[in-house]
Amino acid sequence: MLKSTLLKAADAAGKLIQERINGKFSIEFKDGPNNLVTEVDKASEALIMEIIKKEFPGHFILSEEIGEIKMDSNYKWIIDPIDGTINFANGIPLCCVSIGIEKDGKMIMGAVYNPMLNEFFFTEKGQGAFLNDKRIEVSKQHQVKHACLVTGFPYTYLDTPNGPLEVFSRLIHEGIPVRRLGSAAIDLCWVAAGRFDGFYEHKLMAWDSAAGFLMVEEAGGVVTDFKGHEYSPYQPHIVATNGKIHDELLRWISNTHQ
Ligand code: IPD
Ligand code: CA
Ligand code: CA
Repeated sequence: MLKSTLLKAADAAGKLIQERINGKFSIEFKDGPNNLVTEVDKASEALIMEIIKKEFPGHFILSEEIGEIKMDSNYKWIIDPIDGTINFANGIPLCCVSIGIEKDGKMIMGAVYNPMLNEFFFTEKGQGAFLNDKRIEVSKQHQVKHACLVTGFPYTYLDTPNGPLEVFSRLIHEGIPVRRLGSAAIDLCWVAAGRFDGFYEHKLMAWDSAAGFLMVEEAGGVVTDFKGHEYSPYQPHIVATNGKIHDELLRWISNTHQ
């Protein structure tokens, strides 16, 4: 039941995103001139919540636009109604819906759906990660200098030592390809699918990574914070890799790789 509701909610939201991506919609600005929310983000969220609430009215919900619906429950749904909103608002087909489910504080299931590429990712704790029902695995690359990486940049500039631009510059100075797709959930799923060897980002929210980090782990990868500690989606830093380049990528980020 949990799984079928998750799939139904992600499917419905994905179809809505696809229907509306090249159409007209209103846009509002959240904190800062580049942090957008469209009416489709809100419509996608409303649709997902309606589907979840029908089956599980007592479950806790954390969703990007509406915030928390606090319930005394072991279950928590963590929703990003459109991840990659700027891409969506510009008609760039790299955006998705992302929904993760936590039970007793541990992520147990996740779905990420990018309908424009017809890519539906699903994962369940202990059961593996799947793209359109086919099992996926992380890549086999062993060295950062031969890796294909991906990252994202926050909407507000983080001028800290080893901040986003410093780390990016360090890697590209060595000629290492670092892509930037604009959707953390897709970045994570593409690590899970072996397309990228690693992903890192300095400032994510729980809804950006909830489903995607379990996807990477279940595809055989490793996800931690910047210190190599067990990952929690409730802190900002993430490093998600195929496992083989993980420790080395942590050293590149902390500038201790030489
Ligand atoms: C954003 C995307 C982007 C990441 C930002 C997120 P949104 O989510 O995941 O890749 O770099 O930090 O906020 O705003 O499109 O849902
Ligand atoms: Ca997001
Ligand atoms: Ca979003």
